[in-house]
Amino acid sequence: MSHATKPMTARSGGALSGRIRVPGDKSISHRSLMFGALSVGETQIEGLLEAEDVLSTGSAMRALGARVERVGEGAWRVEGVGVGGLCEPDRVLDFGNAGTGARLTMGLVASHAITTTFIGDASLSRRPMGRVLEPLREMGAEVLARSGDRLPLTIRGPQTALPITYRVPVPSAQVKSAVLLAGLNAPGITTVIEPIATRDHTERMLLGFGAELEITQNEAGERVMRLKGQCELKPQAITVPGDPSSAAFMIVAALIVPGSDVMVENVLLNPHRTGLFTTLREMGADLTIENVRETGGEKLGDVRARHSKLKGVTVPAERAPSMIDEYPVLSMAAAFAEGETRMLGLHELTVKESDRLAAVADGLTANGVPHEKGPDWLLVRGAESVAGGGTVTTHLDHRIAMSFLVLGLASNKPVSVDDGAPIATSFPGFTELFARLGGSIETRTGAAA
Ligand code: S3P
Repeated sequence: MSHATKPMTARSGGALSGRIRVPGDKSISHRSLMFGALSVGETQIEGLLEAEDVLSTGSAMRALGARVERVGEGAWRVEGVGVGGLCEPDRVLDFGNAGTGARLTMGLVASHAITTTFIGDASLSRRPMGRVLEPLREMGAEVLARSGDRLPLTIRGPQTALPITYRVPVPSAQVKSAVLLAGLNAPGITTVIEPIATRDHTERMLLGFGAELEITQNEAGERVMRLKGQCELKPQAITVPGDPSSAAFMIVAALIVPGSDVMVENVLLNPHRTGLFTTLREMGADLTIENVRETGGEKLGDVRARHSKLKGVTVPAERAPSMIDEYPVLSMAAAFAEGETRMLGLHELTVKESDRLAAVADGLTANGVPHEKGPDWLLVRGAESVAGGGTVTTHLDHRIAMSFLVLGLASNKPVSVDDGAPIATSFPGFTELFARLGGSIETRTGAAA
């Protein structure tokens, strides 16, 4: 698939300051549309992330029979079809760049007796789907896929799905969620065992929508989730909090641009999402969280970041699930930290929208930041100043683009990215928000890629 590339350049131009809000959390936005589609009645969503990834999920839910309507800025209404009520779509479902949308929807359709075809962009078509398809096959779904279980692929659900017991072999909230969502329409109890805890939005929302879900810990300390299938979900009113993975770019930028003082309001503080904040504090960041409150079962607060003298730390592998999307931008903070920052347990980074371990390392090389990389680790040697001046290949990866633009706001020479178009998949208004804080990021429209 081709798209118009958007080369972008960020340059240093003085301190960043101000109060802003970032768009709604991507994980919760996808799930709000999906749970709305499976409920009986009308779910009301405020603060939905209106980015390409989430809009793809919205149109997929429409194709599966739900009524999905935008009623105002970030305000959406979903009239669901009920668990078991999804209709066979009369077109292929195009998920663009969205791994979460595609994988969770695979779970949804796998326990319905319908045939659904999934396609995506070049990045999504390279990503492994076997991790989700394997348990869905155990539940009775038939899959027709390219070798290696890549998109495009077609799933045909059985008349009656089998509830299974599944131990998630990789720390992935998407895999856990796909099995739970399939389990919603399987008779009996679907059990998911999670040896390493990952973001728990699916569980929280299942409970919020009235599903019978029991969460315990076994003797080995693993999380065990038991979901009773074929229940009725009740529509909800949801307010989506700001995405901490988006706030991360403003926060790291404030820490590395001298003189900065930035407040990001209304940020989701789910403990499975705040590993970056823990790490930055260990690095000596002046990061404070104010006005902590709870809405819809999730904790949120306002995060204030001021320019700080950072020092290198070791980020333990156990922390990876709570900051998996934040390593690219943490690497930019590490470039300005005194000494070495070691990031361990990064294997999952290699199967994101790009191989992020390789993409970050290449971008650091292009901008004169000394580092070393192994199969699942990265070591960055920081300094008071960073040369910059490089052009980074983003490989259709929004977080690679945004991270290196953040670097450019603090480096000696400007930093360019070959294509910032993927930023629209998760963070509409990224450059405008930086402009409000005083940051200079330019875009020029390029050729079709
Ligand atoms: C997500 C889970 C994570 C994360 C992704 C969103 C989710 O992926 O990287 O951005 O909403 O469940 P994995 O499940 O592959 O770790």
